Amino acid sequence: MSVQAFELRDDDRRPPISDLMEIVQRGLRARPKRLPSWLFYDERGSALFEAICKQPEYYLTRCEIDLMTAHAGEMADALGDDVRLVEYGSGNAVKTPLLLRQLRNPVAYVPVEISPEPLRQCVEDLANRFPNLPVQPLHADFTRPLRLPIPPRAPRRTVLYFPGSTIGNFEARDAVELLRKMRGEMGEGGGILIGADLKKDAATIEAAYNDKAGVTAEFTLNMLVRLNRELGSNFELQAFHHRAHYNAMAGRIETFIVSKRDQKVRVGRQQVSFAADEAMQVEYSCKYSPADFAALAARAGLEIAQTWFDPRGMFSEHYLVRAGARQATAATMPAGAQGPVVRG
Ligand code: AVJ
Repeated sequence: MSVQAFELRDDDRRPPISDLMEIVQRGLRARPKRLPSWLFYDERGSALFEAICKQPEYYLTRCEIDLMTAHAGEMADALGDDVRLVEYGSGNAVKTPLLLRQLRNPVAYVPVEISPEPLRQCVEDLANRFPNLPVQPLHADFTRPLRLPIPPRAPRRTVLYFPGSTIGNFEARDAVELLRKMRGEMGEGGGILIGADLKKDAATIEAAYNDKAGVTAEFTLNMLVRLNRELGSNFELQAFHHRAHYNAMAGRIETFIVSKRDQKVRVGRQQVSFAADEAMQVEYSCKYSPADFAALAARAGLEIAQTWFDPRGMFSEHYLVRAGARQATAATMPAGAQGPVVRG
């Protein structure tokens, strides 16, 4: 393990409290009210998300692990030798070892994570499992421009790994903007390995966001607990509930915090009124068919080089490269090796 492993590089650009107050107050003035989903991930929220991943209804994590188990070797072939792997929002990075153990001679692993404790944990785990792999953690918000640490040797390419369907939390415009930023960070010959939940029947998707044990509901309402703690607001938890429904037209789960009754809440100097049954939007989880995702990628100057599916066909992993880059490579490859490869 590299000496840098435990010095967390601190690019911590999370907004200070006054900005948090501003973001929340602005969201509460909007019509309809809406708050950003990254507010879920305080320490408790991150733990609750991990608990969600273990719920029987939440198929995404299990399917993506099955996908990686089945196809990580082919992914490593696509990525090639001497890769620098940069993971966006690494969290506890359960899927990463499945890929890392297949990579040939990786240059470094750079987990980018905004929550310090999961980042530290991830570095520790990987250092134990891959003692020869330089780990260069970056404590940062991956939606902002990143200053990547200098690699220990020159990588053949930088690949940004963004699993979990986290891209689904961004509305199309923001997703395109993020993909464009990633396109810059990976450089000319680089790539993006990105997980995306597939469109499927509404009942299956809705169940995943309404687990019987109520973990997702607790995760959603924890946002109010956080605001009460960090902003001194007085949201009454019993007076709100979680609602998640699949908007098939838009192809996304829409999650709301719904007011059970007429009520007023104080947030800083702002008095906020909620009507009975008023719904405040807190999360989108967009679902993409491969064609949807190709269109999204195209808007960011990227194209799909290859796509893999889990054995049940629930989840997808795309390898994206700069638009045109694949043709350039394909021209030097034997006929028949061209075109996107799709495997399930
Ligand atoms: C971490 C963004 C992939 O949208 O499925 C899970 C977050 N929210 N249950 C998702 C989440 C409610 C999750 N992502």
